[in-house]
Amino acid sequence: MCGIVGYTGKKNVTDILTGGLSSLEYRGYDSSGVAVIADGKTKVYKAEGKLQNLKDLLATKQEELKSANVGIGHIRWATHGIPNEINAHPHTSTCGKLAVVHNGIIENFKELREKLEAKGCVFKSETDTETVAHLVNLKYEETKDLKEAVRLASKELDGAYALCIIHEDVPNTIIATRRNAPLLIGVGEDENFAASDVPAIIEHTKKAIYLDDNQIAVLKPNSIELFDSNNNKISPKVELLPWEPIALSKMGYKHFMIKEIHEQPDVIRNFLSGKLHSANEPVKLDEVKLDKEKLKNLNRIQVVACGTSLHAAMVGKYVIEELCKIPVDVEASSEYIYRTTVTDEHTLVIGVSQSGETADTLTAVKQSKARGSHILIITNRPDSAMAREADSLIPVNAGIEVSVAATKSYVAQLMAFYALALHLAEIKDSADKDYIKTLKNELLLLPQKIELLLTKKEKIQKCARMYSSSKNFIFIARGMNYATALEGALKLKEISYINATGYPAGELKHGPIAMLDETLPVLSIMMNGKVYEKILSNAQEAKARNARMIALTDSLDEKLEDLFDYVLNVPHVNEIISPIMAIIPLQLLAYYIAEFLGKDVDQPRNLAKSVTVE
Ligand code: M6R
Repeated sequence: MCGIVGYTGKKNVTDILTGGLSSLEYRGYDSSGVAVIADGKTKVYKAEGKLQNLKDLLATKQEELKSANVGIGHIRWATHGIPNEINAHPHTSTCGKLAVVHNGIIENFKELREKLEAKGCVFKSETDTETVAHLVNLKYEETKDLKEAVRLASKELDGAYALCIIHEDVPNTIIATRRNAPLLIGVGEDENFAASDVPAIIEHTKKAIYLDDNQIAVLKPNSIELFDSNNNKISPKVELLPWEPIALSKMGYKHFMIKEIHEQPDVIRNFLSGKLHSANEPVKLDEVKLDKEKLKNLNRIQVVACGTSLHAAMVGKYVIEELCKIPVDVEASSEYIYRTTVTDEHTLVIGVSQSGETADTLTAVKQSKARGSHILIITNRPDSAMAREADSLIPVNAGIEVSVAATKSYVAQLMAFYALALHLAEIKDSADKDYIKTLKNELLLLPQKIELLLTKKEKIQKCARMYSSSKNFIFIARGMNYATALEGALKLKEISYINATGYPAGELKHGPIAMLDETLPVLSIMMNGKVYEKILSNAQEAKARNARMIALTDSLDEKLEDLFDYVLNVPHVNEIISPIMAIIPLQLLAYYIAEFLGKDVDQPRNLAKSVTVE
């Protein structure tokens, strides 16, 4: 969701800005723009739609951009005002000398706009961001100090923001600041960068400074100065970024999504390394900072998450309750934050988020923290805002996930829940030791089994082609794979735009059965275990209504061929581990259907990778 890049130095500014924006494209956007200072003047270029439109525009302006040595760029995901060129960032002050790019939402923009208009500012767009351009510029006219102008203006802003600002009277300089929205500074040689996320700068530098809330950075090619909101100078803490530029390459795959699906066996191995080497050793989860006594006496867990992370949490509930006998509540963060909840210092609150920036989950976590709960964060981004709220932090280490549709991060989150449940069960002695040993063995064998499955993807491809013209899909399952049904349906919806519903199989007869006819595919997730026979009879109910029947199963029962039109087989795993195995074919099914339909798989319409607005 929205992305920022800033550059001051001697290289080709627009190339660096558009290159940085390209690597943020995966976050989802609908327009883009850059502002540079060239020949002493602030110049702004914007385009609606794909970044390529902006690149094409800039290609025609190379002559007038030759002298540019500082600039800011942005990709926008519309919140205030429709996605068009006028509302695209950067926005400028009335005089046109100052330009700003912004991620986040200025909540008091209406009041600010009225005040600023009363002072003679002329607004061009419908955005909240434009108020920042006018406000900072007025302060600049009073103080003649751009950093001070930003500092004073930010005291009047409510909401969340990451801002980069340039002014033609202040050459070679970017002022960057943030509150509740990510922004980092890339440290270079005779050049410096600002960005809302690592991929935008990783090609140029691995050294970065993460800004804290309300800090202000003054970037020039040869210096970076940092100040707090009271204007005290702070020594910047330079960190080494753990990313490799290679992570952003498709490595020969057609899309990032299919590459990321194939990375899943290694994601599991990676997660287990250092935590579980053999079934005879206890799971090592030093990331959990609650002491043994507290863990033993834990009587409630609350998990908050959104989207795919929420589905991972739903599986986590089954696993923890089964192995640890601790009640676990799972709730969508967006629901949790607007009702009276009863989490307190006796509840362990787990926030799950790939990006670690999802606004709803971040708010839920902050609310729980304020009530004294111990906060455990499961995230793929240990450098995120959510991670900074954590008392305990489990980084899932899936590597950067570029495709908007989450795949490998989901599997990594599931691994985190398995590790947590096994760790708690061992401390509490709450599960049969042989059972625990079996599960550990199964987890260690899982990567090979998934690799085996991935070598047989042609059958899934064929299934995708057969069913790609369906307008609707129902995924049914029971028990812990109910979450798999939801996740499989979400994947299909997100990237193919086909209406897909995940349903608990036992609930089919309480309503949705009315929809069934010979046009509707019903995909039954039937993994061997407690509820296998039950789903089988639910599937028979669907068959009796002429639905198009697909089975996803680890059963080798040949009779399934009579009931189902299509059987997708996966290697057998213990039922409790089966959500990891069962999701892989569903990710592939969604991928191949979307690919077959010619959809923009990695950047589905209207979606953003990291949803930083509530
Ligand atoms: O970064 P998060 O895990 O907090 O994101 C939550 C959802 O926005 C995310 O899972 C979304 O549903 C994905 N597009 C799923 O593929």
